Amino acid sequence: MANVAVVGATGAVGRKMLEVLEERNFPIDNLKLLASERSAGLKINYNEKEYVVERLDENSFDEDVDMAIFSAGGAVSEKFAPIAAKKRVKVVDNSSKWRMVKDIPLVVPEINPEDVKNENGIIANPNCSTIQSTIAIKPLYDKYGIERIAFTTYQAVSGAGMKGVKDLKENTTTKFQYSIVDNTIAQIDVFEENGYTKEEMKMVNETKKIFHDDNLKITATAVRVPILNSHAVSINVTLKEDFDLDEVFELYKDAKGIVLKDDVENEIYPLQEDSNDTDMVYVGRIRRDFSLDRTLNLYCTADNIRKGAATNAVQIAELLLKEI
Ligand code: A2P
Repeated sequence: MANVAVVGATGAVGRKMLEVLEERNFPIDNLKLLASERSAGLKINYNEKEYVVERLDENSFDEDVDMAIFSAGGAVSEKFAPIAAKKRVKVVDNSSKWRMVKDIPLVVPEINPEDVKNENGIIANPNCSTIQSTIAIKPLYDKYGIERIAFTTYQAVSGAGMKGVKDLKENTTTKFQYSIVDNTIAQIDVFEENGYTKEEMKMVNETKKIFHDDNLKITATAVRVPILNSHAVSINVTLKEDFDLDEVFELYKDAKGIVLKDDVENEIYPLQEDSNDTDMVYVGRIRRDFSLDRTLNLYCTADNIRKGAATNAVQIAELLLKEI
C-alpha cells in the first residue's frame, strides 16, 4: 500500500489519473489531492469517498506521502518535484521539465521499466506522441534494429488542454494560432532555431533517451488536426536488417501494449474511435516502403490523455511500488 499525492488533481490529466488509479485498483492508503489555491476546498470523489482538494505548498509532502504524481505544468514541477524528492517522495512527473535532464529516467513501461530505479527520486513521463510512437516501433527495434525514423503526427486538440477543446468546439482561437475548425495546423508548441517545433524536437530527443540510443536518426513533423481525442502517428522506419513482411505481422500480433488492426482487403486500419478510452496503441497500414531499402511504413492511434499521459504515469507508479 502507498500514500499517494496527485498534484494537479483538478486538471484534465489529473482527473484522468484518478480515474485510472481507481480502475486499476492501485493500492492506496492515504490519498492527497493537490492543486492551486483556486481549487482548494473543492470536493472530488475517489472510490466512493469524498476528498477535499488542498492547496499545494512547500509542506505538502512533509508527511503521509510516499509517491506523488504531478500534472500541473512545468513551473509547478520545476519548483515542487525537487521539494518532494528531497523528502524521499517518489515523483512521477508528467511535465516536460525533467524529461531530458541527465540522471532523470524517462520511462515507457512497455520499453524501459528497469529505468525506474533512480536515486534522484524523479521519474519523467514522456510526451504523448512519443509514448505511442516508441511502443509502435519497439517490436521492430528489438528484432531488426532501427537506423532512421520519420514521424508525422496528427494530434487531437485534447492534447492542448481545455482551451484546445474549446477552440474546436466553439471555433475560438484561445489556444491555437489559427482556427482549428476545418484546418490543420503544422505547429505544435513554439518554433526552435532549427525550424522545428518544440513538440517535434521532443519526439526526436525523447525517443533516443527511452531506447538509450543516441545513434538513432530521427526527424519529425507534428500537426494539430480537428479531432477531439486520440493522436495518430504515421511512421516511416528504416531498419538495420532486411525484413520479411509476414514475419513483421507476426511480431505485432502479440506485441506488448499493441493491438494490430491491419486488414486492408477489408478496409481495416486504426481509427481514433478504436483507441479512445483504451490504453492500447492500435497499429496498422504496415507495408514495405518500396522507395527505400529495409524500410517500412506504419500508422498508429492511441488515446493521448490515457496512454499518452495518465495511464503511462500510473503504470510508472505501479513499478515504483516495489521501490518505496
Ligand atoms: P487549479 O484547478 O487549481 O488551477 P489543466 O492543464 O487541465 O489546466 O490542469 C492544470 C492542473 O494544475 C490543475 O489541477 C491546476 O489546479 C494545477 N495547477 C496549476 N497551477 C498550479 C499551482 N501554481 N499550484 C498547484 N497546482 C496548480
